[in-house]
Parts: sequence; structure tokens; C-alpha cells
Amino acid sequence: MCNQITDIVAIDGPVGAGKSSVGRQVAERLGFAYLDTGAMYRAATWWAIENGTDLDNPEALTAITQNMPLHLSDSNGELRVRVGAQDITEVIRTPEITRQIYKLDHAAGVREHLVRLQREFGARQPTVADGRDMGSVVFPKARWKIYLDASLEERARRRAAQFAEKGLQVDLAELTREIEERDRKDMTRAVSPLQKAPDARVLDTTQLTFDQSVDAIVDFVREVL
Ligand code: DC
Repeated sequence: MCNQITDIVAIDGPVGAGKSSVGRQVAERLGFAYLDTGAMYRAATWWAIENGTDLDNPEALTAITQNMPLHLSDSNGELRVRVGAQDITEVIRTPEITRQIYKLDHAAGVREHLVRLQREFGARQPTVADGRDMGSVVFPKARWKIYLDASLEERARRRAAQFAEKGLQVDLAELTREIEERDRKDMTRAVSPLQKAPDARVLDTTQLTFDQSVDAIVDFVREVL
């Protein structure tokens, strides 16, 4: 399946580059489905903690992830994430989960399982998928590959603004350090590190508005369509 050119818009990039918000809007404009693969790693982390799994045991993490009854659905343009009957959309975004994800996303067996689900999703319909390894590993034959980037300062500023919208005050310097640390973990891990696929188009959004970023990707897709 992954040897065929697929109608996938693969969006990769570092923390806070706007992949999810931009990706969702691009999907809506194109009439494609949207897949937030970060939410899958977040859900697996929540599920492992919920089950008391030893987060330092990759085999146990793989086994528990394979048993996760994960459901992603779209509700009025918002992604809802459920595991079994429980809606975990909000809880997977908390700092407690974010701090532990690397233990799951560094486990080869966990990645293998989630990658299989991602490919199955992409094979069912034209899809905009965002993550860290979309163009390099999951959809190497994606018709469109984007590497979405922005300066560290701008990414921290955007994250702080998102927290402020939720009424949460954060220390910008500390947030910047946390993002830098997550970048380091994403880029240096042994399995599927964040990297720009050689055939990806780089879009630096530091100076772009949200709408300009969406337009740039939609234009790129339509150029090739
Ligand atoms: O995009 P996000 O911040 O919600 O992703 C959460 C974490 O999951 C991130 O720290 C890296 C990891 N991730 C990954 O390893 N591979 C993906 N395809 C998507 C996310």
C-alpha cells in the first residue's frame, strides 16, 4: 500500500509550528479527512498511565497500546478522542501527559502499531495527516509533503497565546525551554526522528498569519492536483 502514490497531504514539523490548526483547516478547505497523529501518541500515553503500565518497559507499552480501543471522530470541526467510552480530548493535552509522551513515542513497537492504524486511515480516504514522521515513514509516497516550521520564539509565543485563551498564564521563558527540550527529543530519538523528508516543501510560517499558512498549503495541493 505504501508503495503507491497516495492522496495524502503529509505535514511534519516541530512543536508549535501550527501543524494541527493549519492541517485541520487545510483538510476542511480541500474536503479531505484530517488525522492528528500526535493525538494518537497522547491517547496511548494516557491509556498506559491509566492502566498502571511501567512507562520504562517498551514491551509492556507496546502490548497495552495494541489493546487500546481508540476512536477518533470529528464533532463540529473539533477532533474528539475517546478510548472505550471515555472522552479524553482535553486530558491528553495536559502538561502531565505531554511530559511523558516521549516514553511511548520512543518505543518501536508502539510506533509500529500506531503507524499501521494511520496507514489504514489514509488508505480509506484522501487525508491531511500531521505529525513528525508523516512524509518520512508513514506515507513516504504521499502526493504532497510539507515541513511546517517557525522560529523557536514565535512557536513559544503562539503556544503561550493558546494557553492564555484557555485562561492559563505561563512563563514564556520556561515554555521556550520546554519546547526546545521537546524539539531535541523529537529530533534525536533513534526511531522515526523528526526530519524533513528530502522531497518535502518547507513552509516557514514565522512571518505568516494563520490564513496565509493555510492558503500556501491549499495552493500547493491545487498546483499538483
Ligand atoms: O503534535 P503533538 O504535540 O500533539 O504530538 C505529541 C507527541 O507525540 C510529540 O511530542 C511527538 C509525538 N509524535 C510522534 O512521535 N510522531 C507523530 N507522528 C506525532 C507525534
